[in-house]
Amino acid sequence: MQDISELYKGYEDKVIDGRRIASEIEGEVKEKVSVLKDEGVEPALATILVGEHPPSKLYVKLKHWACKRVGIRSIDHKLPEDTSEGELLSLIAELNEDDEVDGILVQMPLPRHIDPLKVMRAVSPAKDVDGFHPSNMGRLMQGDESGLVPCTPKGIMIALERYGIEVQGRHAVVVGHSNIVGKPTAAMLLNRNATLSVCHVYTHDLSHHTRQADILVVATGVKGLIRGDMVKKGAVVFDVGITWIEDRVYGDVEFSEVVDVAGLISPVPGGVGPITIAVLMSHTLKAALSRK
Ligand code: GUN
Repeated sequence: MQDISELYKGYEDKVIDGRRIASEIEGEVKEKVSVLKDEGVEPALATILVGEHPPSKLYVKLKHWACKRVGIRSIDHKLPEDTSEGELLSLIAELNEDDEVDGILVQMPLPRHIDPLKVMRAVSPAKDVDGFHPSNMGRLMQGDESGLVPCTPKGIMIALERYGIEVQGRHAVVVGHSNIVGKPTAAMLLNRNATLSVCHVYTHDLSHHTRQADILVVATGVKGLIRGDMVKKGAVVFDVGITWIEDRVYGDVEFSEVVDVAGLISPVPGGVGPITIAVLMSHTLKAALSRK
């Protein structure tokens, strides 16, 4: 793992420390899991990985390690690349029926022959620790975040809170409109009364928009897309993109340029990634609490 203290040396006051926030969340989850276990309930998360996509394999492994740290039982389903959509949906149906399984996570992206929307609809909303089911997404869109909501956007909201950043009335710009990050992040920022712009691959003059952002969230998977001259002085920047090149991860934000302009920056690695996994743990606990 890249050594964060070395990577961000000299910029400690500018960097949102995702590993610290994640460890605080995991500490809270661990305590509550232990109480639940004393009451006879062992929270359990089932993950499903289809295929051999190396970054996905790593993310699933990191999720299982996190389960171990907080005392959640984890169940690992690895399916071959040529698994049919029907076979995957059957496994999800089985896990939906299993009273000993609280959370179900199907790692995205899926192979091209499987429709991700069908899969998101198949997971029982009560076990949907990713918050991707239309009923959970719909509640989020209506301003109700009391249920299960997507983990990365939730992690960004937690970081904003823990760093005392006001959202109401600020101009937030989200770059990327995926179902996993961009859209639910936009919904959460709107729920907190930000003035919102959502940009994406078809947006003209991206920098015109990003330069207006008090809060900038970038989730495109385009390495180094956001340069220093695209960011407003003092902005809070969340880099959510991840590109792997020869065992190293790179974000969507050119850290070395943007760090001098931004007020705060959530970097890659060590920003939103670890918080996302900690939120997943808290969602599995939440799902298990509803078993009682
Ligand atoms: N792939 C990238 N991010 C995520 C996530 O939050 N959940 C799932 N299931 N897959 C992902």
